[in-house]
This record gives sequence, structure tokens and C-alpha cells, in this order.
Amino acid sequence: MQTTILGIETSCDETSVAVIRDGTLLSNVISTQIVHEQFGGVVPELASRAHQKLIVPVVNEAMDNAGVRKEDLNAVAVAVGPGLMGSLLVGVNFGKAFAYGLDIPFIAVNHMEAHIYSNFIDEPVPLFPFINLTVSGGHTQIVLLKDEFDYTIVGETKDDAAGEAFDKVAKMLNLGYPGGPQIDKYAKNGNPQAIKFPKPYGTENDFDFSFSGIKTSVLYYLRDNHLRNVQISEQQLANICASFQSTVVEVLVQKSIRAAKYYGVKDIAIAGGVSANSLLRKEMKGATQEHGLRLFIPKFEYCTDNGAMIAEVGYRKYQRSLFSPMNVTATANLGL
Ligand code: KG4
Ligand code: ZN
Repeated sequence: MQTTILGIETSCDETSVAVIRDGTLLSNVISTQIVHEQFGGVVPELASRAHQKLIVPVVNEAMDNAGVRKEDLNAVAVAVGPGLMGSLLVGVNFGKAFAYGLDIPFIAVNHMEAHIYSNFIDEPVPLFPFINLTVSGGHTQIVLLKDEFDYTIVGETKDDAAGEAFDKVAKMLNLGYPGGPQIDKYAKNGNPQAIKFPKPYGTENDFDFSFSGIKTSVLYYLRDNHLRNVQISEQQLANICASFQSTVVEVLVQKSIRAAKYYGVKDIAIAGGVSANSLLRKEMKGATQEHGLRLFIPKFEYCTDNGAMIAEVGYRKYQRSLFSPMNVTATANLGL
């Protein structure tokens, strides 16, 4: 018998739904809410209202694209946290009602574990044990996976997440939201050595990070050079982006490699929105090759929030009968 799982993701500003059958992704519809652009960041109330409008059409589109009917579904998997409470509730309540109506299991999925499993959507996949660097708008974590669903957080940010630092620096530079892709784009024409920003190591001797210092350094650099709220040249902008980006990436790469060596693993994976960053992908490739490690990077569309990664975890949990009771609800600060 075939196993068909619907995966629903509404934790932030993407309404996304995917269908996986027997481990093969059949559809992955991602509707990015554009309403937030004008505000320079996600407005929680607008996000949940947009999810409410989008959830039914996106579910229908994902099922149509997959050529799947409701009766074909074996379970509904939903991201229950961490994320924005109002946003999460839309997906969770819809998913529970849908599963209940169809009399099939509801599977609660942790959004951060799903990011890690975005590396399992396509072959080849990492082998356990491996180290995963998860870098998103809300989190920066180095996770040791000893086995499936066996997580040990070995390092994390003590303040801002990596993506948050990208977004905040982009905001200072008036580059719009989300800022990560903009900084990535401008950095391509810049000199990464142009400005020396402090390296965001956190504590030097562990696997933790700290990104608030570099963010403040960019602010001071702009202030001290009278570059705030004035028209700055394309080259200056490119140099700031390149210098900031390379400083962040260097630390992310170095700590991930160190963690892999420390825990004696052969495979490293990266995940989350910032894993779409072109320099991070390039530097990770170089460093892992140099150290004889294998690197796994999700396809671009699985880096930022998506339903496919939720469906992937749902499929794996379904095989282990890891179903969730209907009283499981959205949890904004859910831990891994
Ligand atoms: O994983 P994600 O979609 O949502 C969260 O779970 O937070 O990550 C969004 C984050 C944003 O901070 C965005 O600026 C960042 O990922 N991001 C990037 C790039 N693409 C997205 N950061 C750097 N370079 C990129 N190319
Ligand atoms: Zn995410």
C-alpha cells in the first residue's frame, strides 16, 4: 500500500503545502506573503490573516499538482512551532480539522527538525551520525544527529540569529525585506576585505555564536563614516555587504567544521534560509573538501520555509507510527 502524506507549513510568512508519496515529493506549493515588504519585516497580525486566506487554495493546489485526492491521504503533518503564534495556529487548526475529518493521523512537526530534514528530500542523503548547521531568520544552531530524531544541540547563537543579522544589516542599508538575498546579491560586486568587522565567534572555544556585535559594528561603521540615511555609492554598498557577509560566513563554516571534527562525524549538512547564501554554500564546499568531509546542501526551494520539509518529517514519523494527539497545539518557542 502506498503512503501519502500532506505537509503544512505556516510558521512565519510562507503558506506552503506539499505532498509526499512513499518518500517521493509529488508537489510543493509555496506562497510567499508579499504584504510585509512595505513594512520592512513580517507583521504577525497580517501574516496570520494572509495564512487564513491562503491555506485552503494552497492545500488544493498542492493536492491538484500531486494528482492526489483527500481519500488518498494517510496522514496530515503540520509545523506546530517554533514560529509566530497566530501564523502557526492557522496551519495547526486547519491540519487537525482536516485529519479529524478524514479520520487519519495528525503528525506534529517541529519546524527546526524539518529544516534539517530538507536534506533528506532528494538523494543522496547524509548518513547518521552527522552535524547540521541550521541557519534561519529565527535560529542558528549546530545540531548533532546521532540517529533519526535524535538531536543534540551542540552550539547556538547567544543573541541574534544569522538570518536576523542579515535582515537587520539590510535594513540599515535600506535594502528591503528579506535582507539576506539582497546582501548576497550586492556582495557579489564587493571586496570582502574592504572593511574589517569583528568576527562573531561568541565564545571562541565552543560551538556557540553571537551576531549582535557585528550588526552593531556595521551600524557604527555607517555612523562614523557619515553613511547613514544618505545615498551611498554602489561600490561602497557592495563592499559593506561583502565584508559583512564574509565575516559571518567564515565563522559559520569554521565552527561547523570544528564540531564535525570534535564529534568525529564524516557528514555535514546545512539548512534554513541562510543556507541559500551563495558564499556560505561555496565556502562550505571548499572547507569540507579540504577536511575530507561530505557536504549536503538542500536545493534552493527547500532552504527557506516550505511544506516539503514538513511532509518529509511527517512521512518518516508515519513509518514509526509517531502520531500526535489532537490536544497538541501551536507552541511559539518550541525547542528541538
Ligand atoms: O528558514 P527561513 O525561511 O525562515 C525562518 O525559519 O526563519 O529563513 C529566512 C531567513 C531570512 O533571515 C532571510 O534573510 C535569510 O533566511 N536568507 C538569506 C538568503 N536567503 C534567505 N540569508 C543570506 N543569504 C541568502 N541568500
Ligand atoms: Zn524556517
